[in-house]
Amino acid sequence: MYIDEIYAARDYIQSRYKNPIDVAIVLGSGLGPLADVINEPVEIDYKDIPYFPVSTVPGHAGKLIIGEIGGKTVACMKGRFHFYEGYDMQKVTMPIRVFSALGIKNLIVTNACGGVRDDLNPGQIVIISDHLSFMMPSPLRGPNLDDFGPRFKDMTDVYTSTLRSLAFESAKKVNVDVKEGVYCFFKGPQFETPAEIRAFKTLGADMVGMSTVPEAIVARHSDMKILGISLVTNKAAGLSSNELNHIEVMEAANSAEERLVKLVKQILEDM
Ligand code: HPA
Repeated sequence: MYIDEIYAARDYIQSRYKNPIDVAIVLGSGLGPLADVINEPVEIDYKDIPYFPVSTVPGHAGKLIIGEIGGKTVACMKGRFHFYEGYDMQKVTMPIRVFSALGIKNLIVTNACGGVRDDLNPGQIVIISDHLSFMMPSPLRGPNLDDFGPRFKDMTDVYTSTLRSLAFESAKKVNVDVKEGVYCFFKGPQFETPAEIRAFKTLGADMVGMSTVPEAIVARHSDMKILGISLVTNKAAGLSSNELNHIEVMEAANSAEERLVKLVKQILEDM
């Protein structure tokens, strides 16, 4: 049973790290370097955690790193799972269930995304205010996990407003420019078409990407506080003359990593 797998993974992690953990962090494409600033890290390979998936995407490692940043104990996923890799939504979000089972109350989830709104250009950091998810299967589909949350969960404040305000204050302190926007999930792995981008722009999408939303929904199900941070790596399809490719995404992410690490460190300090 899925629930038994979750608890088996939790028990294994607890056998490697016994203390309470304040914040879980999921790192997106090219955003791995945050894991390098973790003090006194305990590294756990995904392959050693019972039932944990392993990532298949270049630029996504496969380690859970637990330690200290900014005075907080963090469990950092270096490497995450995507629906497009072939995992079902329960497998994609299993780590979040495990974090919740470990008693972790806060989640910071990061991603690389395409900018849809006119002012969202490559290099821009955006705090996610809300999301569009109706074209994806829900990770909550199937028997409800009553240990975690209710069958029908409110999704009004998925990206916790207090954490969003805090992130803006932290960004000011470290002089990093941040904006706010609505993230729209696409299943991928192909990039969107220009027609899709035009359609979803009219529906209120500011950014598009292939991650984050499944994790956020599952974290919200068990009342974790969530902060979503997007890095715009490219203009979305049809909005620039560049052909989209993963290398461009990785390069843009790498060149912003220093700012992003500075911001997340400050946020952790302020939480
Ligand atoms: N679309 C979807 N996912 C992405 C993009 C994009 O343009 N850029 C980075 N991840």
